[in-house]
This record gives sequence, structure tokens and C-alpha cells, in this order.
Amino acid sequence: MDRIVIRGGRPLNGAIPISGAKNSALKLMAAALLTDGPLMLSRMPRLADVRFLGQLLARLGVEVEELAGARVRLHARTLAEPFAPYDLVRKMRASFNVLGPLIAREGRARVSLPGGCAIGARPVNLHLMALETLGAEIELSEGYVIASAPRGLTGARIVFPMVSVGATEHAMLAAVLAKGETVLEHCAREPEIADLAGCLNAMGAKISGAGTDTITIQGVERLHGADWTVTPDRIETGTFAIAAVAAGGRVRLEGADPEHNHALWDVLRRAGAEVTAHEGHVEIARSGPIHPVDIQTEPFPGFPTDLQAQFMALMSLADGASVIRETIFENRFMHAPELTRLGARIDVRGNEAVVRGPAQLKGAPVMATDLRASVSLVIAGLAAEGETVVSRIYHLDRGFERLEEKLSACGADIERLGEETA
Ligand code: UD1
Repeated sequence: MDRIVIRGGRPLNGAIPISGAKNSALKLMAAALLTDGPLMLSRMPRLADVRFLGQLLARLGVEVEELAGARVRLHARTLAEPFAPYDLVRKMRASFNVLGPLIAREGRARVSLPGGCAIGARPVNLHLMALETLGAEIELSEGYVIASAPRGLTGARIVFPMVSVGATEHAMLAAVLAKGETVLEHCAREPEIADLAGCLNAMGAKISGAGTDTITIQGVERLHGADWTVTPDRIETGTFAIAAVAAGGRVRLEGADPEHNHALWDVLRRAGAEVTAHEGHVEIARSGPIHPVDIQTEPFPGFPTDLQAQFMALMSLADGASVIRETIFENRFMHAPELTRLGARIDVRGNEAVVRGPAQLKGAPVMATDLRASVSLVIAGLAAEGETVVSRIYHLDRGFERLEEKLSACGADIERLGEETA
């Protein structure tokens, strides 16, 4: 298992290119199942999760071609048996999103339930409710969803009882080929949802309102191929921004969309950073002290849960105490004990963490527990004195493209080591 070694205490100075958004790329790939035409996706991040979903799509009969220039061409000319087995779905929850497109195109599907993960139970009841409301018959058997809609799906009004990114996207992916109009209410408004709607519309779908609370979809009989460029990754952008504030220095995040991170910019400014938004890039600098700021995670446009761990690492360096409240996932503080090993002072009570800065962090061996938690340890390591070794970094590779390369180009002393040999 690879490890990352960081010798901390160096500021970050330079430019970091931002990749396409993982969370968008995965749903765009599922959209390829909806048409027998080719879907060409550009600015695709090279990540383990994208490869896993590529394997599942290939198994479903899709031609998957990785091309130069961060492009992936997906062509679902004809589909194989609409079956997504446990061994491919369990690796990554977003695989579950093939269910809706398979029902919409093939009239039936058998897809493994994704199961929980380190950050919580993560049920899929809202996904299934949406598909059932569109007319799919759904049965759960031995860990599989067995779905059928022999006469196709029919447009309907769906009111989500809580805001869910995945369920909003899944409902869109199914409703585009349903008969008649679908109205989705109480939708998630994340930029990845507007990205998916944009791509589906380029494929011939009729979706309006994506990015707002209510999305309206006029079903069409068929979709065609399209070319689409994945939106920049706002979580990668935010992660490097927080890293620059933690380590000090000045970085330019190339290709970032400043409009996608307003909640973070506001909080970082209050913490003492200088944030300048330009068209196509964002500049982050910090030279003075870091101040404590309380945050609460919320659906977009609020502070994203996917940046909570990184922000906690930053707050451990602040000159005072801050409170971090997690409202999206029930078990998302696993990074707290690992940050404590580096010298942070954090008390977790239920869904609140009190972080008492300023800590002089000191390098130590730590373990990555999930995707976003692992990068918080890297951020702490950049600010810590001495050497931090982060193990189990396969979590990092699921969501961050060439992380150590991007950071070392800005002056960080960070390297990847292969498995320790006895
Ligand atoms: C997506 C992102 C993830 C991010 C999250 C919240 C992807 C691949 N992942 O996850 O990185 O942290 O949005 O911004 O895009 N819920 C239910 N029933 C459901 C679905 C969700 O109760 O059927 C609950 C979840 O347990 C959670 C909340 O709703 O408490 C929000 O989850 P959701 O927005 O669905 O997150 P994901 O789409 O899984």
C-alpha cells in the first residue's frame, strides 16, 4: 500500500491546475447509457473512481475509450445484460446511478445496493422513491434492486423530503426518457446538477431549472451523442485553497470557477486569507495569523460537507477556538482523532467538534479513513513541523488527481512511497 510522506513547514507558492469534478464526471458517465450515440467527455479527472465506473460501464456493454487530453469517449451502441454486480458497485457508491438510465433505456435492471460507507449509512430510499414514482416496479432481493418498467417510465411530480444530490441526479437521469412531464421539487442545487442537466440537454433532453429548487423535465423519446466538458472540481479547488491558507504563501488555482465556492471564500476571508476571484482562476494568499471561524455544513450554496475535514485541519492552527457542525453525514469526524495525533486539540460531541487552536502541529504517522478525511491529514502535514506519513492513501487516489505532484510544484516537500518492505 502506498504512503505519502510530507515534511511540513514550507509555504505554498505557485499555480495549481484544477481537474474536472469527480462528482460530476461520475454522473455524466452514467448518462452515456441513455443513448446509442457516442458521448465525448472532456476535462475528465484521472481518478480511481472514474476507472471503477468505466469498468462497470464496459461490463454493461459500453465502449469506453480513454483518449489523450483528459478525454473519455463512451459509446453505448447496444447494451449487454443490465446487471451491475456487487463487486463493482461496492467499490464506489456512485455506480448505483446506472440503475435509472438502465431502467429508462432497457425497461429493466438488476443493480446491487451500494451499502454504507465510512461516513455513514447513506441510504438510497430517495433514489428508489423517485424511480417508483416514475413508474418503475422495484423489488429488493438478496442485496439487489430488481427493477422493471416494461411499458417505460412516465413523468410525475416528485417532492423530495430532504435535499439529496444523488437522488436529484438519479431522478433526472431516469426522467429524461419518461413519457410526459416530470417536476422535481426540493432538489439539490449543487453545480454538478446543472452540469449534468447541461450535458443531458446537449444530448437532446429538455430540462429546465437545474441549479434551483425545482427542476422540470419534458420527456423525449430518444437522446443522441454529444461532446461535453466537465465542470471544474470545486472540492479540489477548495481543498487547495484551504491548504494554501494553512501553509501560508500564495497560490493561483487555474481553471477554478470562483462562483462555485462563495461559502468557502467568505469563511477563508474571515479566517485571515486574501481571496481574489478572476474569470477562470482564483488566487489565495495568507501571510498573517489564522483566525477561528465557526462553520456548519449545508447543502449548496452552504459550506460543503466535502470540505469540512480540510477546514478542521486549518482551524487547529487558528488563534482561538472554533465550532464545526456537521449536518449532512452522521459519522464524518473520523479525521479528528488522526488530527489529534498531529497535536490538534479537538473535542467531538455528537455532530459538533470544538477545535481549540492554536496548536503547533508535529509530524506523526497517521491513517487515511475516507476520501476527504485523508486530504485533511495532508493539509495538517503541510503545516506541521517534521515528517508526517499518511498511510492508506488509496482513499486519496479515489478523488484527487496527482495530488502530490500539484503540491510539490508549489514548493511542498511531499512524496509518494511504495509499500514498506520488511
Ligand atoms: C454527494 C457527493 C458527496 C457529497 C454529498 C453531499 C457524489 C458522488 N457524492 O453524495 O461527495 O458529500 O453529495 O454534498 O456526488 N440520503 C437519504 N436517502 C437517500 C439519499 C440520501 O437519507 O436516498 C441522505 C444521506 O444519508 C445524507 C443526505 O441525504 O445524510 C445527503 O446525501 P446526498 O446529497 O444524497 O449525498 P450523495 O449524493 O450520496
